[in-house]
Amino acid sequence: MNPGDSTDAIRLTAVRKLHGRRDNRVVALEEVTTRFGRGAFTAIVGPSSSGKSTSSQCAAGLDQPTSGAVLLEEHELSDMTETELTELRRDRIGFVLQAFNLLPVLTVRQNVTLPLRLAGRKPDRDRVARILDQIDLAQQSNHPPAELSGGQQQRVTIARALLSDPAVIFADEPTGALDTRAARDVLSLLRHSSRAAGQTIVMVTHDPVAASHADHVLFLADGRLTGELHSPTAESVADRMPRLGAFADEGPRPQPVANRGGQR
Ligand SMILES: Nc1ncnc2c1ncn2[C@@H]1O[C@H](COP(=O)(O)OP(=O)(O)OP(=O)(O)O)[C@@H](O)[C@H]1O
Ligand SMILES: [Mg+2]
Repeated sequence: MNPGDSTDAIRLTAVRKLHGRRDNRVVALEEVTTRFGRGAFTAIVGPSSSGKSTSSQCAAGLDQPTSGAVLLEEHELSDMTETELTELRRDRIGFVLQAFNLLPVLTVRQNVTLPLRLAGRKPDRDRVARILDQIDLAQQSNHPPAELSGGQQQRVTIARALLSDPAVIFADEPTGALDTRAARDVLSLLRHSSRAAGQTIVMVTHDPVAASHADHVLFLADGRLTGELHSPTAESVADRMPRLGAFADEGPRPQPVANRGGQR
């Protein structure tokens, strides 16, 4: 393989991350080495505090590893200045934020175009219309987010991330606050982005059902990579989860799959 023509969108090499001060140190990541294929949809799965968000933030250049290397879209992040990192994130990366980050005083359309406007760019009207159509919110585009359901609001944050046509999209628990059906719509939208537009998707989740929508699953426990799965199913992801973490052998096995929305 030609090293200049990598099939990897992201590579982490021996990434270690310590949080906190000297007397209160937390090892969030320990020797994490992995790669994220270009155009692949990868889920990072693990129990709470296992380092999922930290690994995704290090991969996105939002946080700096204590040691180790991150290659993102052919850029060695530790070689970049803060300004270069900001430009890389703006031009090549999309972040799917939690829906509460939408601004209530703006319309759906204004929320979607806000990051581009803040970057001093004029959004392409046709592209905005196409994306609003894709998330099935063309009708509501002039309404404030408060008039939308939770799932619709989450789709607005995805539209916002898609607008600049980023090479890589990071989503941390994008379905965390949604019922089963709304979660499925959001996951289909992400899936479609990787299939149709060749975008690389990195999704953090603790939900085996959400993870089953990805091509590939990475398992984290106590800051370490403990395994991976290709072509996951909700069952195969859930099967691996009880073995994760310090208290893995205690307590009942999580009951993942379907029907969670029905209990609400
Ligand atoms: N800014 C921070 N300062 C201090 N400790 C932190 C910080 N961010 C994370 N940690 C610690 O690092 C470890 C990994 O945290 P991280 O947020 O990556 O876990 P996570 O897998 O995303 O958990 P969750 O599922 O609860 O979101 C945890 O022990 C956490 O308390
Ligand atoms: Mg997290």
